[in-house]
Amino acid sequence: IRVFLPQDSVAQALGAEAVAQALRDGAHRRGLDIAMVRTGSRGMLWLEPLLEVETPEGRIAYGPVAPGDVEALFEAGFLAGGAHPLRQGRPEEMPWLARQQRLTFARCGIIDPLSFADYRATGGLRGLEAALAMGGEAVVAEVTASGLRGRGGAGFPTGIKWRTVRAAAADRKYVVCNADEGDSGTFADRMLMEGDPFTLIEGMVIAGLATGATKGFVYLRSEYPLAHRMLRAAIAVAEGAGLLGPDILGSGQAFHLEVRLGAGAYICGEETSLLESLEGRRGIVRAKPPIPALRGLFGRPTLVNNLLSFAAVPWILTHGGAAYAECGMGRSRGTMPFQLAGNVRRGGLVELGFGLTLRDLVEGFGGGTRSGRPVRAVQVGGPLGAYFPEGMLDLPLDYEALAGARGMLGHGGVVVFDDSVDMARQARFAFEFCAAESCGKCTPCRIGAVRGMETLDKVIAGREPQRNLALVKDLCEVMQDGSLCAMGGLTPLPVMSALTHFPEDFAPEAAPLA
Ligand code: NAI
Ligand code: SF4
Repeated sequence: IRVFLPQDSVAQALGAEAVAQALRDGAHRRGLDIAMVRTGSRGMLWLEPLLEVETPEGRIAYGPVAPGDVEALFEAGFLAGGAHPLRQGRPEEMPWLARQQRLTFARCGIIDPLSFADYRATGGLRGLEAALAMGGEAVVAEVTASGLRGRGGAGFPTGIKWRTVRAAAADRKYVVCNADEGDSGTFADRMLMEGDPFTLIEGMVIAGLATGATKGFVYLRSEYPLAHRMLRAAIAVAEGAGLLGPDILGSGQAFHLEVRLGAGAYICGEETSLLESLEGRRGIVRAKPPIPALRGLFGRPTLVNNLLSFAAVPWILTHGGAAYAECGMGRSRGTMPFQLAGNVRRGGLVELGFGLTLRDLVEGFGGGTRSGRPVRAVQVGGPLGAYFPEGMLDLPLDYEALAGARGMLGHGGVVVFDDSVDMARQARFAFEFCAAESCGKCTPCRIGAVRGMETLDKVIAGREPQRNLALVKDLCEVMQDGSLCAMGGLTPLPVMSALTHFPEDFAPEAAPLA
């Protein structure tokens, strides 16, 4: 009998290892032979650890399972899909999953992440085989036709970036995956690395073939130790299986891949400081131009893409760019793995075509706040993203609609706050975050963030609030226009959105800082 239990970091944090032990003990006592497959997560985080069992009717899920539930599950005959209060039924029929379009995350939570046989049996490598058959030029055309845009947040057309690197003449080129997932409330990169790392590897190999690069790096944040182990193990398996190495799938083409760990700086998610860090230096932003696509790692043309951009590519090559472009709205084509976090009842990963509304995500999928209090604010796009009030939740989630509302989609992170939130403190936090994470290269960001924090402290303390708020607004303009990179340039977004949508929290009578 096969049972499936996630070993994803979230499942582990919620006690998956103790559940695994309880399952082994319970089976041993009953003389039952169970095979336990450790999977990634399905992304329904409020149900973790989500235990599944293979039955003639398909997989049946039970969750959230605590070690103390395991005996009762055995008694209820869960190995045959028996009734129990934790029984959730067939996962693919659960409304949360049934409504999604799982293209990039199709295998996550289902397969053994390190089983190459599982990967192949579920359609793995078909994208790479198609890429090898059609050649680099056609691969770039297919990625362009898909309408895929950079999933790190800037939304730059991926096909154009690939074409730029492909057209650059050099003795060596590189492919770099940005897996420095630093935005608050985001976890999609981690979930994919822990749950389906071969998809990332396949996407990067295809990128190498398309651009003429033979060497790739995954720049991974050190806060993801399990993802690090999984990725290294997956690379070793891929090398053994001919997915990586001097002769990819017998094509005579080479691609080698290494993982490099960051040291915990948010700014190393910015592509040029990431490259500095990869070269062994402190992560300080480089001025652009030159763009990395022409002069990047070690001065060579370098394709830097977010992990989610690479991971979308195998599906695109398998099913065609046109099929991918069928999802989405306007100029935002394909699916986006939205990540729902913060004060929300049902947090997790929702992969859907662009265009669903924030309300659908927060209320439909999320079920409102965990505290049961009314939703007051939703921050979209990480710590540098805008805060939207409840009245703006009908905003569709796509790059242009969010930019039009003075916000940004970023990496797809959505953090929910209830009516106990103090938006003046949230605005102050944006400056504080920028002051802590600034690389220090340019003045508007290095000095501006600190002055912004001090000035908001005065507002919060009720000292000349009108004059100081005018100063904050002026400072935000300078930071937005004068900063070298998005760190300083986008910090005004959370600050100004808090001021615009929640002016009442900046009233002079607001509580002074502790
Ligand atoms: P950008 O707009 O400067 O560049 C986007 C990408 O396109 C870069 O890789 C750039 O090199 C490339 N590019 C630009 N022109 C090109 C051309 N002609 N040919 C080929 N490639 C070209 O944006 P940037 O500074 O890279 O990113 C800013 C964004 O990052 C923000 O909008 C924000 O959404 C996002 N962000 C994401 C975070 C995360 O954790 N994922 C954290 C903070 C910000
Ligand atoms: Fe560095 Fe901030 Fe300037 Fe970006 S905006 S280069 S993080 S100092």
